[in-house]
Formats: sequence, C-alpha cells, structure tokens
Amino acid sequence: MNHADEGYLEAKRTVDERALDRRVRDRLLDELPAAPRVLEAGCGTGVTVPRLVAWGVTDGEYRGVDRDAATVERARALRAAELDADADADGEGFRVDDLTVRFEAGDALDAFAGERADLVVAAAFLDLVPVDEALDAFASALAPGGLVYAPITFDGETVFQPDHPADDAVVAAYHDAIDDEPGRDARAGRHLLDRCRARDGALLAAGASDWIVHPRDGGYPADERRFLGAILSFVEEAVDGVPGAEDWLRTRRRQLDSGTLTYVAHGYDVLYRPG
Ligand SMILES: C[S@@+](CC[C@H](N)C(=O)[O-])C[C@H]1O[C@@H](n2cnc3c(N)ncnc32)[C@H](O)[C@@H]1O
Repeated sequence: MNHADEGYLEAKRTVDERALDRRVRDRLLDELPAAPRVLEAGCGTGVTVPRLVAWGVTDGEYRGVDRDAATVERARALRAAELDADADADGEGFRVDDLTVRFEAGDALDAFAGERADLVVAAAFLDLVPVDEALDAFASALAPGGLVYAPITFDGETVFQPDHPADDAVVAAYHDAIDDEPGRDARAGRHLLDRCRARDGALLAAGASDWIVHPRDGGYPADERRFLGAILSFVEEAVDGVPGAEDWLRTRRRQLDSGTLTYVAHGYDVLYRPG
C-alpha cells in the first residue's frame, strides 16, 4: 500500500476536510500560542499547511517531515503554488505571511530530536508506525505544555455499500494485511486513546473523524472517485485467495464507475498534551 502516492493524498483532501472533528480543532486552536513552532510527522504532500493557514495560523514556524523524498519535493511545489508563495533560496520551503514552511525527507520517529516545538501534527499517520514509539518521539520534541494533534487516525472499521456476500471476508483480510505490516496497527485509533490515557499527560479532546464518501447524482465530489479507486487498490493487494474477492472487486469497481459505491472508514481525531 503506497500511502505517499500523490494522487491519493491530494484526492483525499476533501474527504478529510469533511471528516475533521470541529470540536477537537477548536480546542487545538484555543491551546496554541500566537506564533507556534509546528512539526509534522508524515506530512505527505503538505496539506496541513493550507489547513493551518485557513484556521488562522499565519505566524510561526512549520517543519514537515516525510520519509518519501519525491513526496517532499511535491509538497514544496504544490503548497507554494496553492499559497502563492515564493520558494526560499535553499529550495526547502517558503513563507506565507509570517509563517515559515519547510519540508524535509526523513524518518519522523527520529528527525525531531532536539526540537522544542509547541505542536506535533500526525495526520493519517499513527496507523503506520508503532504508537508508543511515535508518542515518545513526539513528547521529546515538544516544549513543556506542547501538544500532539493526531487527526484521521484509522480505527479498523471499514464499510462498503451496497452489501456484498464477501464483505466480511474481504474487510477482515484487508485489516489483517494492515496488521501484518511491520509496526502497523489497523486499530491504531482506539489504541491511541488507550495510550494517551495510560501515559503521563492529558487527553484534551477526542472525536470521531470518519471518512464517508457517497455518490451524489451518480458521481462523486471533487476527486473522490480517484480516492475510492486508490482504496480499492489497497484492498486488492490484501485479498489474494480470499473466497469471493474477485467478484467483490469487480462489483466494487463497477459500482465506482456507475457512481453507486459508498465507503466509510472509522477514525479518531485526538489532541493530547504529554506530561
Ligand atoms: C496516509 S499518508 C498521510 C499524509 C498527510 N499527513 C495527509 O494527511 O495527507 C502517510 C504519510 O506518512 C509517511 N510516512 C510513513 N512512515 C513514516 C515515517 N516513519 N517517517 C516519516 N514519514 C512516514 C508516508 O510516506 C506518507 O506520506
């Protein structure tokens, strides 16, 4: 499963925007200082930057890290163009109002050593890495009182509609394949809630952020048909040999083409202040 695919990451933006929990976001914005130092783990194509700007965070510093170097390059170009910003002299980022933005290639679990940030963002990320290891890395990168904001953390519930007889077997195989990848956890969302409660610190806010994509007038908004196509490809990689999976995939692709497929994935948004 290539979670750094540019088409997939850009196409999921509108799905994420609908899903984000406004109450968790508002608490985050209430807690942030005026010019925050922000780190992002697994920044992908950098969509957090225009989101922060739209939320009024236009002063401070942002540093996004992703292990996929090509995605980092695209983040710099796409977000500078979207925000009408000129590239810095070193080519690693740009400035929007008083917010400096940099994107770097690296492993987010060790790239933040020595930082004293106000916020670490980990969006659609914590199902990809060991949650405790990530929280340790984030906690040590924060100044006292700093925050971890982990929106769109997948939580192991996947629904495709209309009903198909192979749904249960296909979805179980999909979740098993996620769990089989080293460090991954298909139920990262609920385990993140457990870990935030068990560790020192405070779970400040939590809310559901389910991805819900359903057709309207036989089609899908924005680029969400492409998003659903990528999800079906992720499932396809996981279901080789599952009884009924071939018919399931054929049926789902036909439904996608005709604009009759609905998809739901359960996730959580979490705001945590490490102790
Ligand atoms: C599902 S994407 C989410 C991207 C972005 N946060 C968003 O919401 O659009 C997850 C990203 O994490 C990156 N990634 C996975 N493990 C990583 C690690 N250990 N360090 C840095 N990036 C990582 C992947 O390359 C991918 O771009």
